[in-house]
Amino acid sequence: MLQNTPGLIDEIRARFAHVDSCPFQGSRIFFENAGGALTLNSVVETSAKFAAIPDNQGRDNVASHTLVDIINKSKADLSVFMNASTGQFFVGESGTELLFRMIRTACVNAPKGSKVIGSSIEHPASRSAARRWAGIAGLDYVNVPHSDDLGLVTADDYRAAMTPDVSVATILHASPVTGMGMDVAAIAQAIREESPECFIIVDGIQHAAHGQVDIDSYGVDGYAISPYKVFSRHGYGIAWISDRLTALPHDQLIDAPASGWEFGTRDTGSYATMSDVVSYFDWLGTQVSDESDLRARIEAAGLAIHAYETHLTNAMISGTGNLPGLRDMDHVRILAGADNPAREGLVSIVVRDVPSAEIVTRLNEQGIRTHTRKADHYSGNVLTPLGLSDCIRISLCHYNTEQEVAQLLAALNEMAA
Ligand SMILES: Cc1ncc(COP(=O)(O)O)c(C=O)c1O
Repeated sequence: MLQNTPGLIDEIRARFAHVDSCPFQGSRIFFENAGGALTLNSVVETSAKFAAIPDNQGRDNVASHTLVDIINKSKADLSVFMNASTGQFFVGESGTELLFRMIRTACVNAPKGSKVIGSSIEHPASRSAARRWAGIAGLDYVNVPHSDDLGLVTADDYRAAMTPDVSVATILHASPVTGMGMDVAAIAQAIREESPECFIIVDGIQHAAHGQVDIDSYGVDGYAISPYKVFSRHGYGIAWISDRLTALPHDQLIDAPASGWEFGTRDTGSYATMSDVVSYFDWLGTQVSDESDLRARIEAAGLAIHAYETHLTNAMISGTGNLPGLRDMDHVRILAGADNPAREGLVSIVVRDVPSAEIVTRLNEQGIRTHTRKADHYSGNVLTPLGLSDCIRISLCHYNTEQEVAQLLAALNEMAA
């Protein structure tokens, strides 16, 4: 476990920018990782370096060749990081934009009269794309209801709604509202049992920072992440697509190579920062294992992250030291249950009779950054069925500490008093 290796948490924290203070607010604890995780210092350096380079790719000069090599290395690093032995990676404007592009392409190429399936647990990025492009392509949209109690959707839920004429499916890997992870491989298998050729697109944006991504094991066609949520920076998204999704007719320049999915000139720095992220996971793997293989070290790092985050969320829920946990506070309700094994580093709560925004403001005044989720077009799909107008989202990452959790619990206990 990360916390049992002396000095490791400090070494981890030293690798991230603004780990305990905000340049605008001063000293603060960061529990808003689902809104955007901390950035690696190496990513900051790399970004500055590439921002200063004027050269473009595809020219016959040393700078241009070097940029292309860096992009190719980043793609190779990503294929190990996300365990994708086939298909390709490319960058786009954001995770949302890439989900729209993948889902749109699958829908407009789908057989007439076929169906699109997705679940009510999804973030609107995939859900809006699927509903909009199903409508434009004349396909029926099938909704798989999620479990309000568990805050997730299962393979059996999909199985119950599946028919052989489903040609496009969307899956959320982890919910940014309930914090629960879905079993993507099992859901994809349930889909393929009925419709083997279905194009399956996964929103991995909330999941990526919390453990492993293992695309080869999922049997899907598309997977999107947002780099700023996995220790890189804002400004772009990353998608992986299978060879058969690559081959579908898609938006591109006339007469360009058929396998290209990128739009225009790429930011080499964005790719280079993903190599920094992979290097970080590699380094963490060396700290928690003796593995000699890169993928094995990345898996070891992912397991350690998941175990440590579970340790932290358990401390938050059940208490630490002599501080009572969230489950012991009469006025606090924990979304999707206190003992949910699907939890990935995130706890959403409501405080009885107090608007969530007020709690978030009061925590902020004490230097503890959390976030309000409202029953709006982002989170209404999860909160409205629970009869909630809002909730407080406390989202952590493996660089957070038990001491920070204790400070949060102390603040919430004090508010109750
Ligand atoms: C699961 C999920 N999907 C999609 C998005 C949208 O990501 P982006 O704004 O980076 O496109 C988010 C952002 O919170 C998310 O958590």
